[in-house]
Amino acid sequence: MRTLRTVAELRAELARHAPQRVGLVPTMGAFHEGHLSLMRRARAECDLVVVSLFVNPTQFNESGDLDAYPRDEALDAGLADETGVDILFSPSVEEVYPAGFATTVAVGDELTETLEAVGRGRRHFDGVATVVTKLFGMVGPDVAYFGQKDVQQTLVIKRLARDLNLPVRIEVCPIVREPDGLAMSSRNGHLSSSERQRATALHRVLLATESAVHDGELDPDALCAEALTELRRSGLEPEYYALVNPRNLTRVERIDGPVLAVVAARVGTTRLIDNHPVSTVDSPARPVAAGTEQTTKGS
Ligand code: PAJ
Repeated sequence: MRTLRTVAELRAELARHAPQRVGLVPTMGAFHEGHLSLMRRARAECDLVVVSLFVNPTQFNESGDLDAYPRDEALDAGLADETGVDILFSPSVEEVYPAGFATTVAVGDELTETLEAVGRGRRHFDGVATVVTKLFGMVGPDVAYFGQKDVQQTLVIKRLARDLNLPVRIEVCPIVREPDGLAMSSRNGHLSSSERQRATALHRVLLATESAVHDGELDPDALCAEALTELRRSGLEPEYYALVNPRNLTRVERIDGPVLAVVAARVGTTRLIDNHPVSTVDSPARPVAAGTEQTTKGS
């Protein structure tokens, strides 16, 4: 694996391998099994796997959060190398945002005004959309891999790729969880042992919603009220718990067909998110139907 720091070096290396099928996994580092699952999928499907490692300052709304973001490039590079990654692209902030940088990519519909945007500010998604568009421009991937854990982010990225006719296919990979169900996250390391224990409530409550739906409770208000009560009883401070349409994240009025339960809550000072499909049919609905909103190379 080669670690590259400038766009010029990256382009030169990519040119040496053209015209192979290039897979990109955008990350902010602090790799865990969730990140590694995206890299493995890219490795299985692509000739050349590029992982970007860039802690993007423009998507953080709290500077304390940016400062506290875990960074250990040497450890990450070792894990990426073991996973079969070809190129680790780890640029500086100046390389990505040189003096005079003045462009923002903003997905301007209700998708960037709801759920995560309420707590984190809609500029969070402007930051994500801008850096991901830049990474697509720098790497020119055929396929880019993102995690279902950040479902709203995946929909924002699919939308910008489609709206801007970017020739990249977006693949969404399943949530990787700890054995007790907690979704893996670089923030889990901030939890004390008692917070870590309480954090299991997130997944437990999502599963409880799913069983309640299977048992015939189809009223979203009743399901959300029960979930919020259980989260608070477990010592979490929920920011939202909602039952939404998996395609556009608008709240559903009744459970019929595929529905996604989405949650954000604070455990102490750490903010965690998770989601899980719930549905009236016995086999769980896929949260994002493959192929429905993807942009394909050449479109
Ligand atoms: P980061 O939080 O590092 O996540 C990188 C990718 O890993 C994202 O696509 C995220 O959804 C995925 N991921 C995180 N936890 C996961 C889990 N438990 N299971 C499966 N996938 C998981 O998301 C970002 O970085 C940034 O916003 C980025 C897209 C890189 C733009 O800066």
